[in-house]
Amino acid sequence: MAADASLFLKNLWYLAFHGSALKAGKLIGKEMLGEKIVFGRDEQGKPFALRDNCAHRGVPLSQGWFKDCTLQCCYHGWKFDTNGVCKEIPALPPNNTIDISKIKVFKYPCEEVNGTIWVYIPEKKLPNTVPIEPPPNLLLDSTKNFLHVETVTMPADIDHSVIGLIDPSHVTFVHQSWYWRSAKKLKIKEKNFAPTAKGFKMVRHAPSSNSKGYSVLKGGTSTEITFEIPGIRTEHILVGEKHQVISITVLTPINDKETELTHIFYSSLPLTKILWWPLKRLGKQFIGQDLGVFNKLNEGLKSKPTLMLIGEPDMQARWYYEIKRLWAIAQQNNQPFENPIQPQTLHWVT
Ligand code: FES
Ligand SMILES: [Fe+2]
Repeated sequence: MAADASLFLKNLWYLAFHGSALKAGKLIGKEMLGEKIVFGRDEQGKPFALRDNCAHRGVPLSQGWFKDCTLQCCYHGWKFDTNGVCKEIPALPPNNTIDISKIKVFKYPCEEVNGTIWVYIPEKKLPNTVPIEPPPNLLLDSTKNFLHVETVTMPADIDHSVIGLIDPSHVTFVHQSWYWRSAKKLKIKEKNFAPTAKGFKMVRHAPSSNSKGYSVLKGGTSTEITFEIPGIRTEHILVGEKHQVISITVLTPINDKETELTHIFYSSLPLTKILWWPLKRLGKQFIGQDLGVFNKLNEGLKSKPTLMLIGEPDMQARWYYEIKRLWAIAQQNNQPFENPIQPQTLHWVT
């Protein structure tokens, strides 16, 4: 399964964290895709992201000081601005002729969207990297922020985490709950899929009648579920004429052993405020159930078993690997990515 491809896709945007985690005047060091990155906010409050290694001898800049929007390394005190340009080398005598502005720490493109912070991870770390596309469309108009953002660390690499996200057949066994659905009420499902720019979507449909969770949403409900690389699943529920509920799950690889799963939620329904605590509990329970089975999976994978993807229930996982493979090739060849997925209908029993 994708053994020849590199685990992490580059030239894509990845979610770092919720904007509230990044306070003005503070630095956060974070590992993403095995790369060490330091985050902060500039004079305007806009987030920035730099490689978390001092250009001198590599000490993490996140371990140093951050004053007046200047990062100072804790080893020999070199100073860098929020663009990663060296501003001062304290030990150099005043009459030196070195142009220190040529010394730079790599700066990642970084954007705050609807209160969430995204960083673009390029294949090549060239100065002034320009993303090949804007951050992902999070379905929410730019004047609004998400209501709730919650993150857990999954003990699995990005591929297993993605499959856990898009695989329909685990739902019956992992997410059993008396008020949501029951394993005794299995039904054959038929869903239409269509390609999107970097993934595929389950085209808009009325939610399944054996999910009681949806039945509280009266007034003609429909849902569209999209998956795009590197690991973003968006569920867009329309309720009646004017209301929407947005549920987004984003996967951010930390390294080859851990992946962060962030659940982002938005709703315009007044009912959401009343049902907020039960909804939050339900969300936590879902994530907890996935985490539980991932801990077991992690045990199983230690003995390196042969794995398989079988039939229509595992078709989306196959698509993921194929899209991933072709994306990586397109990046290597500097060519536009062409989505191999064709519109089709899938069936499974859940
Ligand atoms: S390692 Fe940072 S100043 Fe020397
Ligand atoms: Fe799940």
